[in-house]
Amino acid sequence: MEITGKIDEVRKQVKEWRRQGLSIGLVPTMGYLHEGHKSLIDRAAAENDRVVVSDFVNPIQFGVNEDLATYPRDIEADKKLCSQAGADLIFHPQPEEMYAPDFSTYVEMQKVSERLCGKTRPTHFRGVCTVVCKLFHIVMPDRAYFGQKDAQQLAVIRRMVRDLDMDIQIVGCPIIREEDGLAKSSRNTYLNSEERKAALVLSKAVFCGEDLMKKGERDANTILTAMRNLIEGEPLAKIDYVEMVDADRIEPLTKAEGRVLTALAVYIGNTRLIDNFIMEV
Ligand code: PAJ
Repeated sequence: MEITGKIDEVRKQVKEWRRQGLSIGLVPTMGYLHEGHKSLIDRAAAENDRVVVSDFVNPIQFGVNEDLATYPRDIEADKKLCSQAGADLIFHPQPEEMYAPDFSTYVEMQKVSERLCGKTRPTHFRGVCTVVCKLFHIVMPDRAYFGQKDAQQLAVIRRMVRDLDMDIQIVGCPIIREEDGLAKSSRNTYLNSEERKAALVLSKAVFCGEDLMKKGERDANTILTAMRNLIEGEPLAKIDYVEMVDADRIEPLTKAEGRVLTALAVYIGNTRLIDNFIMEV
């Protein structure tokens, strides 16, 4: 497995693989890799001849008061996980390699990126789309892998690829959880032991909503109220949003119908965590 911080070197390697007729999978990440990321790399390795993992804490997707400076980083551990999972190349650029001092071109999306996380993080998806578009141009993969953990991000990327005619297959992968239910996240490291326990309300709310829908409940308000009540029972938790939307258009639903995304964002202390479930009804 190779690692490089240079766009030119990625291009050179990719060109050589293409010359050999090999297929390429890309797994975009911000590093501090865990089992969730590994499941994406495993899947990419199973479906492609070569796998590129990008490991880059993308400054432009963080808002001014967010955790860019403290976002966890551990490239040595990331290298180990990537090589075990069967990655062939890690792209680990410095911000200067990706963004010229006078960088001024962005991919902006309307609608799909405006609700849910887009409300609290108004410039977030512009940063995500821009960096993912750049990564697609640098690596030119056949397939790119994203987790359903970030369900709105997945919908946004699918929409960008469709709207801008990018010839890349987007593969969505299931949420990987800790044994007790908490969705794996690099941000879980921010939690102290008390907060770690409190953070279980997110997955409990998800399982509660899922249960109600499995039992036949279709009224969004009934499902969301049950989920909100559960979260409000935890003193360390503060709800950002709990919503039911169409999974592709990210538009609110009053009744569960079609591909339904029920998503939530909750602050546990100062840490903002997200979780969700998608159900076809
Ligand atoms: P990051 O948070 O590092 O996540 C990288 C990928 O791993 C995303 O597609 C995310 O959905 C997936 N992932 C994270 N936790 C997961 C879990 N518990 N189960 C399954 N998949 C999981 O998402 C980003 O980085 C960035 O926004 C990025 C797309 C790299 C652009 O900068």
